[in-house]
Amino acid sequence: MKTQPRYACQQCGAVAPKWAGRCEECGAWNSLVEELPRAAPPKSLGQSTGRRGGHALDFVALRGENAGPPRFLTGIAELDRVCGGGLVPGSTILVGGDPGIGKSTLLLQAAAALAAGGADAAYITGEEAIDQVRLRAERLGVADTPVRLASASSVRDIIATLDDARAPDLVVIDSIQTMYLDTLDSAPGTVSQVRGAAQELIALAKRRGLVVVLVGHVTKEGLIAGPRVLEHMVDTVLYFEGERGHQFRILRAVKNRYGATDEIGVFEMSDKGLVEVPNPSALFLADRSNADGEPGGEPGEEAGKTAGAAVFAGIEGTRPVLVEVQALVAPSPLGTPRRAVVGWDATRLAMITAVLDARCGLSVGANDIYLNIAGGLRIVEPAADLAVAAALVSALTETPVPSDIVVFGEIGLSGRVRPVAHADARLKEAAKLGFAGAWVPVRPAGRGARRPRSADGLATVAIEHLSELVARLAPAPRRRINPAGARRALVAP
Ligand code: TYD
Ligand code: MG
Repeated sequence: MKTQPRYACQQCGAVAPKWAGRCEECGAWNSLVEELPRAAPPKSLGQSTGRRGGHALDFVALRGENAGPPRFLTGIAELDRVCGGGLVPGSTILVGGDPGIGKSTLLLQAAAALAAGGADAAYITGEEAIDQVRLRAERLGVADTPVRLASASSVRDIIATLDDARAPDLVVIDSIQTMYLDTLDSAPGTVSQVRGAAQELIALAKRRGLVVVLVGHVTKEGLIAGPRVLEHMVDTVLYFEGERGHQFRILRAVKNRYGATDEIGVFEMSDKGLVEVPNPSALFLADRSNADGEPGGEPGEEAGKTAGAAVFAGIEGTRPVLVEVQALVAPSPLGTPRRAVVGWDATRLAMITAVLDARCGLSVGANDIYLNIAGGLRIVEPAADLAVAAALVSALTETPVPSDIVVFGEIGLSGRVRPVAHADARLKEAAKLGFAGAWVPVRPAGRGARRPRSADGLATVAIEHLSELVARLAPAPRRRINPAGARRALVAP
């Protein structure tokens, strides 16, 4: 029987009878690869117990004797936390990110820190020459740590070297796109090579109980056999993000079999490599306090000088992070107004402008809108809705949001402001950084249904409907005449 070739999409798994440049299912370009179908459908295992073969499984209890070996702490606290409290022996970590973001720097620093702490760490570079890595080590001040460095790209050589009793505790593979398996025909960097090489290295990690860190490049314009195909194979996926123009770098866990996801680690790229930022709120608000000429937004400050900015009290993973939301609203000369959003979801912005227009009688939507999350942070929480709305309304009415308050809350399509999780942690962080008040959702009924009282000395104002926020930011002449008015408005319910 003649078998027809078939083509499988390497992105979504859809099967097509003919090759095409673009997958019809998911729209990915250049992702169809020929697969050889089996001549006959796989045989069923059969019905009769006698002929089925196979071994009976041994079921065990969920509680087991082996708690597993302890985690390695790299000593880079931000990295350890993102990994769920250290690196788990036998696990594989994929570190993805744009070229030049600092992956090699971070992992060389991690390997060096581990080696300095007495662990056996190896760094295999397939991308840079030994001299380049040495130069970087010199610059980072870690050239004297006992990291084992090698330049290689053949997975066969790497396995032959590491697969013995003297296997290191950690090996960094920089990058997985440069590795190749000589058992496959395709070129390095193709999906099958990347997947095949990763499979071998993951098996090595399990067999020898070592931590394998794979570096993977993500490119903006389509993925060159990007690390996405690896995401389901590895235990932990970390993305290293940041704007090239900013010195902040954010390490984000998007998958972790050994810890929480959506945890972030914040670093600053300095001339001596990546420096941990233990208190990101202070960093993200740094420009703001400089502009005000006062550190950290001191309590008792009067309304800020510029309209169109609001401080959002967010939660990233387990940690509260305060960040400024900036908006610019300008009359649009175009039929279709412009929207430029950095660090937030454009669809969510469209929803909030629609709610402001439909429920609060404003006309925000007809304007050009520019929205920016300061410091290069990307926010995914719906809890930022109210802060975004505050920044928009403030920009529209040219009334500044008082500079010593934080804002959070989710907005529903009716304009109602809904409570969000971790309200106390958000307020606590705001109080710690010297904020005096907060505009927050009404607490959910059932939990006392009481008015939010000042937590940690913060004057909280419960906002039930978006129109209440708009009323606060409407240009009120009385407030202009009486400078104490702004503060009174803050405290009044
Ligand atoms: P790198 O780690 O090579 O990025 P990746 O491996 O993700 O491609 O980092 C490259 C950038 O970091 C490069 O533009 C220079 C900058 N850098 C510093 O600013 N300070 C430093 O100490 C180092 C080592 C790099
Ligand atoms: Mg690199």
